[in-house]
Amino acid sequence: YEIYLNGTTGAVPRLPTDPSRLEELAEHRLGPGPVGYVAGSAGDGSTARANRAALDRHRIVPRMLRDVHARDLTTELLGRTLPAPLALAPVGVLSIMHPDAESAAARAAAARGVPYILSSASSTPLEQVAEAMGDAERWFQLYWGKDREVTRSFLGRAQASGYSVLVVTLDTPLLAWRPRDLDQAYLPFLHGVGTANYVTDPAFRAGLAKPVHEDPNAAVMHFLGLFGDAGHTWPDLAFLREHWDGPIVLKGVLHPDDARLAADAGVDGVVVSNHGGRQVAGSIAAADALPGVADAVGDRLTVLFDSGVRTGADVFKALALGARAVLLGRPYVYGLGLDGEAGVDHVIRCVLAEFDLTLALSGHARPDTVTRADLAETAP
Ligand code: FNR
Repeated sequence: YEIYLNGTTGAVPRLPTDPSRLEELAEHRLGPGPVGYVAGSAGDGSTARANRAALDRHRIVPRMLRDVHARDLTTELLGRTLPAPLALAPVGVLSIMHPDAESAAARAAAARGVPYILSSASSTPLEQVAEAMGDAERWFQLYWGKDREVTRSFLGRAQASGYSVLVVTLDTPLLAWRPRDLDQAYLPFLHGVGTANYVTDPAFRAGLAKPVHEDPNAAVMHFLGLFGDAGHTWPDLAFLREHWDGPIVLKGVLHPDDARLAADAGVDGVVVSNHGGRQVAGSIAAADALPGVADAVGDRLTVLFDSGVRTGADVFKALALGARAVLLGRPYVYGLGLDGEAGVDHVIRCVLAEFDLTLALSGHARPDTVTRADLAETAP
């Protein structure tokens, strides 16, 4: 009721509560390069559209008279208790959106107890983000590159800075064909954005002929050369397992067989994700892949989900389709761009409040009682 109560004095929220209006506002107010980078997707954009269409196709079938007056959103996963089945997805290069970048997003997440997943391509070094978060739950996302020493060093730094879960992104060994960025010839990395963890890393610096400040362009080129490794195969995961003491989650799994391989490789979870439609144009919608993955490994692995989540109702649907929790992506990035930490806080609170209401109004007092029976699939 907070918003309505404030409304009695004539105040309305600083940002829209409707995610499409938030996106429109971001498109309008933020620079075309940065907002194009965030909003854009791969190829013809069909994967990003399919992500939304798949979630829209599933409709909630609410149940009545089930005593939902006392609700508890807490969620157990990967050996920890979260206040709700929600985390902030790893999104790199956030300084293109706001000067406070990842630290602002991380502080907003920390204030609500929502895990913050820091991208290895952040514009702020991981130690600085950790400092901004105090003891709050933080996970580290790894772009698993070509240089083993750099990888090992990143894992050591992340662990020393209190990141507890390692999220390894598998779907981006190469950056995809992204027309909005190509048409504007805009790639943040070429401006040095997103390289903060690299240029502060001793193992990375050891590979440079000159110190970063003497030849920043060479550092960027070196970064681009080792950022991804399209040569990795499943047995290579043993290296990460050996050097990370804690849960490992593989992000970007869509095929049930890959989910089984992940379980066989001894990791702890998967994120069913197509990177928000930014990698494979024409790919299956993430929500369409989710039930198959959940059926294949739900009893062995923690199944998380992202790509297309905009509202609390979407969170509900993802849980019904087999996810244990959901990662929120673009909406919080728009919130950051429009109003810094307060904008991220606004978006997190809107999603959580709407999720709580959706849960209650659909006949549930807790997230873990939601099942596929709560949904009806309608024709596309
Ligand atoms: C991303 N995503 C991403 N994923 C990742 O593992 N590491 C990263 O550095 C980034 N960077 C990134 C930048 C931007 C601008 C976007 C929009 C996305 C993907 C992200 O974690 C998540 O999978 C998607 O954002 C989910 O799609 P939606 O819900 O945002 O459409």
